[in-house]
Amino acid sequence: MSSNEAATPLIPAPDMKDAHVYGMQAYEKLVAEAEADHSGYWSRLAREFLSWKTPFTRGLDDSRAPFFKWFEDGTLNVSWNCLDRQVERGLGDKTAIIFEADDGQVTRVSYRELLARTGRMANALKARGVKKGDRVVIYMSMSIEGVVAMQACARIGATHSVVFGGFSAQSLRDRIQDAGAVMVVTADEQVRGGKQLPLKAIVDDAIALGGCESVKNVVVYRRTGGPIGWVPSRDRWLHEETQAQPETCEPEWVGAEHPLFVLYTSGSTGKPKGVQHSSGGYLLHAALTTKWTFDLKPADVFWCTADIGWVTGHTYIAYGPLALGATEVVFEGVPTYPDAGRFWKMIQDHKVSVFYTAPTAIRSLIKAAEGNAAVHPKRYDLSSLRILGSVGEPINPAAWEWFHHHVGGGLCPIVDTFWQTETGGHMITPLPGATPLVPGSCTLPFPGIAAAIVDETGADVPNGQGGILVVKKPWPSMIRTIWGDPERFKASYYPPELKGFYLAGDGAIRDAKTGYFTITGRIDDVLNVSGHRMGTMEIESALVSCTALVAEAAVVGRPDDTTGEAICAFVVLKRARPTGDEAKKIANELRNWVAKEIGPIAKPKDIRFGDNLPKTRSGKIMRRLLRSVAKGEPITQDTSTLENPAILAQLSERN
Ligand code: PRX
Repeated sequence: MSSNEAATPLIPAPDMKDAHVYGMQAYEKLVAEAEADHSGYWSRLAREFLSWKTPFTRGLDDSRAPFFKWFEDGTLNVSWNCLDRQVERGLGDKTAIIFEADDGQVTRVSYRELLARTGRMANALKARGVKKGDRVVIYMSMSIEGVVAMQACARIGATHSVVFGGFSAQSLRDRIQDAGAVMVVTADEQVRGGKQLPLKAIVDDAIALGGCESVKNVVVYRRTGGPIGWVPSRDRWLHEETQAQPETCEPEWVGAEHPLFVLYTSGSTGKPKGVQHSSGGYLLHAALTTKWTFDLKPADVFWCTADIGWVTGHTYIAYGPLALGATEVVFEGVPTYPDAGRFWKMIQDHKVSVFYTAPTAIRSLIKAAEGNAAVHPKRYDLSSLRILGSVGEPINPAAWEWFHHHVGGGLCPIVDTFWQTETGGHMITPLPGATPLVPGSCTLPFPGIAAAIVDETGADVPNGQGGILVVKKPWPSMIRTIWGDPERFKASYYPPELKGFYLAGDGAIRDAKTGYFTITGRIDDVLNVSGHRMGTMEIESALVSCTALVAEAAVVGRPDDTTGEAICAFVVLKRARPTGDEAKKIANELRNWVAKEIGPIAKPKDIRFGDNLPKTRSGKIMRRLLRSVAKGEPITQDTSTLENPAILAQLSERN
C-alpha cells in the first residue's frame, strides 16, 4: 500500500491548543522521554494518574521475562481510584453514568451513588464468602449493575471474568470451569432490539453441563421479571442480597500485580485463552489512554459503544473513564433499534462529545442511511461531537470518510485505535491534537509503546515493506499470563525466534514516507468478524463435534463488506454430499449447531459441502487454497502437491 497511501494527503490535526498532547513536538517529547528511560517514564505517569496506598519503589521488573512486573511493591485499589477518589475530589454529584435502556429510558448515576452501589454489592459478595483472589464470572448485558459488579469485585480484590452475553451455555461453562469461579453474577434476561433474551436460563444450562462445582452462588439482577428457573440453595436475587448491606465497604488494598480480571479470547489453536491483567499497570494505561487518545476533559460526555463482555468495554467503560472522573454513556441496546438512527439520536440527546465505536457498526449504519434518509446522521444535531474513535478491526477509507464527514461534520479527528485484549489499552493510535491523520492508518505508537515491524527472525524490516507487528519493550497494561497456562502464554506471545519481542499476531506495514502503521490483518488462524475475534479451530471443533453429521471441517475467513470478515466453512459429511435444498437445510442445521456450541456470533455465513477437502499427499489441509475458493478468486497458487485437485471445483459451488 505504501506508494498509494503515501500519496494520500495527511489531514492536519485541528489546532486544539488546550489538548492534553498538543502538536507533534509534544508527542515526540513524550516518545523521547520514554526512549531515554522506559521504566522512569511509566513510573512518572503511574504516580500522576493513580493514587497509591503504598507507593511503589520500582517501575519495571524484567528479571523473570517474559513474566514482566510493573510497580510491584506498590499497593492500591482499582475501585477506590475510580470512585472514592472522585468523591474526595469534589465530583460526588457529577454524573458518572448516563444509562440508556433499550426502550429509551434514561437513568443517571452520580459518582456518589455509584460508589454506594458498588459498596453494597461488594459487601453482598463478601457476605457470600467471596474473598480476595476468588474468581467471579459476570454474565450480564449492558447495565449499570454490570459495571457495579466489576467495580465491586475490584473493591474486594476478587478477579472478575466477564463473559459476553451472546456466548452459549457451552462457552460459558468452559469459562466458568477454566476460571474456577465461585460465583456467577447474571440477569434474569437481557433486552436488545425490543426482544427479551435469556441469561439466567443459559447460566442454569451451563452449570447443568457439569464441571462447575466451584460455583456456590448465582446472583441474579432482575432486569425484566421474566420467568426463570430457581435453585434455592444456590440462586440469590441481587436486590435482596444488597438491600440490607451498608454502602461503605473498606477497599481491599492489593499489590499492583494482583489480577484484576481474566478475559477469555480466541487464539489460533485450541480453547479460548484466559488473558490475565494486573491492577496497577492496567489501570494506569486505561486512564492514560482515555485521557490522551480521546483528549478527555472534565466537561466531555464520552460514549464507547462496546459491550462490557469485550476488552473495549472493560478499559473504556468500566475503568478508564471512571478513573478520570468522566461522564459516560452506557447503552443497553443495539444501533438499529428502533431504527438505524439510534446512535445519532443518542449523541444528540446526551450531547456526546467523544464517540468511540467499531467500523462494522459504521458500515451497517452507512448502508441503512443510504436506504433511508430519515436515519441519516444529517437529520440529527451532532454538533456536540469533537472527537470520534474507531476500534476492533481496520476501518476502510470509505467508512472513515463517511464517519468523518457525515458524523463528524468534517471537523472531528478520528482516532483509529489499534490494540488487543492482551494489550489492555491502545497501542498504535493518533492523538487528536497532535497526529495528522490518514484514513485507514492507525498512524503512530502511543508514547512509550515500542511497536515495530520485523521479519520471522526478529530483524527490523524497512518502512514500506510489510512484516510482523511486535512490541519490543514490555508496557504496564500488557497481559501477565494466560490463566493457569504460563507455558501457553510464552509460546503464544514470546516465541524464541523473535528475540524477546511481544508477538501481536497481526501483520503490518509502515508507510515509506511517514512511518505510519497500517494493520494488514491477522497472521494466524484468528478471524475478525464484526470486530469479534474468533479462532478458526474453535469453529472447526464445534462443527466436528456434531458427530452425527460431520466427518471433517475446515474454516477460513473471507472479506465481507459489512462485517469485515465472514466465516466460511468447508464441510465433509458422514453421508453423501448434499445439493440443492437439502444442502441448504443441512447448512442451516449446522449454523444452529455452532450457535449452540459457541454463540450466534460464530455462525458461518457460508457453508460449502465437499466429498473431501483439498489436502496435500501427507494429509495436510491446504487452507490458502480454501481462502481463495471462499473469496471466489481464480486459483493461481501451485496445486501440484494437492492429492485431489478436482475437489476445488466442487467446493466452489455455493449452496
Ligand atoms: O487484528 C487486530 C484487530 O483486532 C485484534 C484484537 O482483537 P481483540 O483482542 O478482540 O480486541 C479488539 C478490541 C481492542 C487485533 O489483533 N484490531 C483491533 N483494532 C484494530 C484492529 N485491526 C486494525 N485496526 C484497528 N484499529
